[in-house]
Amino acid sequence: MSTKKNLNIGLIGYGFMGRAHSNAYRKVGNFFDLKYQPVLKAACARNEQNAKAFADNWGYESVETDWRKLVERDDIDAIDICTPNNTHAEIALAAGAAGKMILCEKPLSMNGPEGLKMVKAIEKAGVPNMVWYNYRRVPAVTLAKKLIDEGRLGKIFHYRAKFLQDWTISEDLPQGGQGLWRLDVKAAGSGVTGDLLAHCIDTAIWLNGGMDKVSAMTETFIKERKHNLTGKVEKVGIDDACAFMARFKNGSLATFESTRYARGHKALYTLEINGEHASIAWDLHDLHRLQYFDHRDQGIVRGWRSIHVTDSDHPYMGNWWVPGLQIGYEHSFVHQVADFLEGIAKKKPASPTFRDALETQYICDAVLKSGKTGRWEKVANAK
Ligand SMILES: NC(=O)c1ccc[n+]([C@@H]2O[C@H](COP(=O)([O-])OP(=O)(O)OC[C@H]3O[C@@H](n4cnc5c(N)ncnc54)[C@H](O)[C@@H]3O)[C@@H](O)[C@H]2O)c1
Repeated sequence: MSTKKNLNIGLIGYGFMGRAHSNAYRKVGNFFDLKYQPVLKAACARNEQNAKAFADNWGYESVETDWRKLVERDDIDAIDICTPNNTHAEIALAAGAAGKMILCEKPLSMNGPEGLKMVKAIEKAGVPNMVWYNYRRVPAVTLAKKLIDEGRLGKIFHYRAKFLQDWTISEDLPQGGQGLWRLDVKAAGSGVTGDLLAHCIDTAIWLNGGMDKVSAMTETFIKERKHNLTGKVEKVGIDDACAFMARFKNGSLATFESTRYARGHKALYTLEINGEHASIAWDLHDLHRLQYFDHRDQGIVRGWRSIHVTDSDHPYMGNWWVPGLQIGYEHSFVHQVADFLEGIAKKKPASPTFRDALETQYICDAVLKSGKTGRWEKVANAK
């Protein structure tokens, strides 16, 4: 008989992330030896038929059509928020008040002040909490963190990241509603800054520490789009593209760029870090590799090496297949669930917590403000 403790999950939203998280809950216990076992207790969506179809496909025991009912259920231990950004705060506040653990999708909130309200309430409630910045758990990125923390790069001079897509170039694409809420500022809070750069920022502050100030340019290339919910042509309030410079607290300089107007790019998230002794580079399209250059190597063999991050002594990889066989995108979510469950067992919060994610929110706020003022803007302190 299993000695594992059940952790009953109530998941809200059955889109892209609802699927990615459900997959992670199902797999984690097969590959990681953990004290807690997630149980797919209930899936929540507004449309009952869709909720039932989703629940049947993934093996949820029950469905709800109102997240308030789900949050109040005694048989739910943890609420997983996989809904658009404008719903995160209300659901998280209710879940915290009901004493539930919370796993919330990124970005934490619509903006910094809303995020701070969530952090205060959740810390007061004392419930385990985490935000799904999943790229921290791609083994090659986790390896980058290890190499930096070991001091292999020495003093860091530069951090460079970009996240490029091309799916909103057509003027005919409407904004708002199912599938297109990302173009509606009332649902998303911002455009590429909160959606894509938030990922780059979270990885950056994890790898390289906090940022002092930022200077940004933002642009909305298509100014008006038909709104799917009102049927009217409405002003577009999101940033279609954003590029910003940043100064990190450790003295390093950074550039970040994101757009949904880079024809040919679907999800090109890349980062490069240059230190005194060594550099590292990573590319989401080749996510199982970490590029590493070490100037201390003997001159005649010095050069960039491409580390295939699949050996059992690489982060998380001992739990998967044999060396040489790689894993993919969905595994970053499995790793994040594994760390969350381990955190509960050891009473040690899994990062990023709501408070960690507030730092990213404050940087996004400063970036968007700078995009408007044209000035360098200071980043508020989230600690
Ligand atoms: N970690 C990542 O890499 C990553 C990737 C994509 C999305 N996200 C984040 O995940 C969240 C969801 O994004 P997505 O891509 O899964 O969106 P999606 O459009 O695919 O799915 C959103 C789901 O939420 C449901 N929904 C909306 N309002 C609801 C409500 N009031 N009650 C119940 N259900 C409701 C929709 O019906 C849909 O099922 C967003 O915050 C987004 O920023 C994170």
